[in-house]
Amino acid sequence: MAEHFDLVLRNAVIVDGTGAPRFEGDIAVRASVIVRLGRVGVARVQREIDLDGKVAAPGFIDAHTHDDRLMLSDPDMSAKVSQGVTTVVAGNCGVSLAPFPVMPAVPVTPPLDLLDDSGGWFRFPSFSAYVSELDRHPAATNCVLLVGHTTLRVATLDDLERPARAEEIARMQTLAREALAAGAAGISTGLYYEPAAAAPTSEVIEVCRPLAEFDALYCTHMRNEADRVLESLDESFRIGRELGVPVIISHHKVNGVSNHGRSHETLACIEQHRQQQPIGLDCYPYYAASTILSADRAAAASRTVVTWSKALPQHAGRDLAELAGEMGVPQAEAVARLLPAGAIYFSMDEADVQRILAYPPTMIGSDGLPHDAFPHPRLWATFPRVLGHYSRELKLFPLEQAVHKMTGLTAQTYGLEGRGILREGAWADITVFDPARIAEAATFEHPIAPAHGIEYVMTNGAMVWEQGRATGAHPGRVLRRTPGR
Ligand code: ZN
Ligand code: CU
Repeated sequence: MAEHFDLVLRNAVIVDGTGAPRFEGDIAVRASVIVRLGRVGVARVQREIDLDGKVAAPGFIDAHTHDDRLMLSDPDMSAKVSQGVTTVVAGNCGVSLAPFPVMPAVPVTPPLDLLDDSGGWFRFPSFSAYVSELDRHPAATNCVLLVGHTTLRVATLDDLERPARAEEIARMQTLAREALAAGAAGISTGLYYEPAAAAPTSEVIEVCRPLAEFDALYCTHMRNEADRVLESLDESFRIGRELGVPVIISHHKVNGVSNHGRSHETLACIEQHRQQQPIGLDCYPYYAASTILSADRAAAASRTVVTWSKALPQHAGRDLAELAGEMGVPQAEAVARLLPAGAIYFSMDEADVQRILAYPPTMIGSDGLPHDAFPHPRLWATFPRVLGHYSRELKLFPLEQAVHKMTGLTAQTYGLEGRGILREGAWADITVFDPARIAEAATFEHPIAPAHGIEYVMTNGAMVWEQGRATGAHPGRVLRRTPGR
């Protein structure tokens, strides 16, 4: 009697996520698991697809996202599954949707407004309440969750412009411990941003103490990614060493014209410290950054584009210098009129971006901002851009390496058992794409568009993207970190 499978993908070129050379084969899935990989004989199958030489890879893992709320408010997650992403790491840059024992005052402090500018979504009194909501209402993608230090500060301190006091640190520790027990894989910080900038290194270390009990991760948007980037790397590594936990440097970059070329120094520094302690990093494939609008940042960039504005929403998508010209005011005054607002800053060096992307330990993370009116194209285009533009066209690294940076490497860094790899017994997170055609469609001019060349995307064995559309299936799970890998 023939074996029974739910789905068989035949004649695939398998890029398994480990970085190993591609090979030809079939993949059989039963329920949510890959049960056969290689040759699949005659079988009774629910559905069979002939891939005709297209690539089957592990579903991509977006190492850096702000999808905490998107998973609940738009569970199809089209911006992500359209790129082949089946797992997102949320809660980055110090900003997580939970916990808020008391809902924050409205309007919420930037950068928390990246997740929700009305404030109504910050309604989870504990991290476990947020996790249960995701369990009850899953999205199309799996997720790995971080709890944000800035969120903990906003939930605890009456004044964000000073270091936390002992009793406030104790309260933040309790909230952090609860989050880690509820399934958070680590704590993120955003020491660059105002609500956390007053936190000295010692506060961060004390709030993050519970990380050690869980062997969880310390992920950081560093205090400085410009002139003082090396000091900030040192601070991050020191925090990791004192806690005895792995460090992840978020969206690694060097900002500002005067720092162009300094990725030589930062990567040498990271490489040297990696000999002594576990360090990971992620990067998005663009030389333009995006975050909240500030006059200082705009002054250091060669060009600034408004991505959203609460005060003047009609200006989303406009060039800041042009706008200031039309208003007949200096750029700083135009910024003041637009705030609160977000922006894209052309502030990096393309050679730095390529050097960081090509560095073997670098994972791919979009840092996409899903609630911006006119988002940075990294939200919809990060993964196809790495595969198409950087791997196929510029030959920065072979396809197998590109896939590894968005699958196996990321699963290993975050401790995700049975993810990021195609093998028998692994979870059936699978992305099928045409290696000759895969390319970004979203651009700075038209930032919302699904990628070219992504054919099928499945999460836990269920199809989530097919024929250029989200299927409406929401099979995602909250993933737990398996430490010590
Ligand atoms: Zn950040
Ligand atoms: Cu971020």
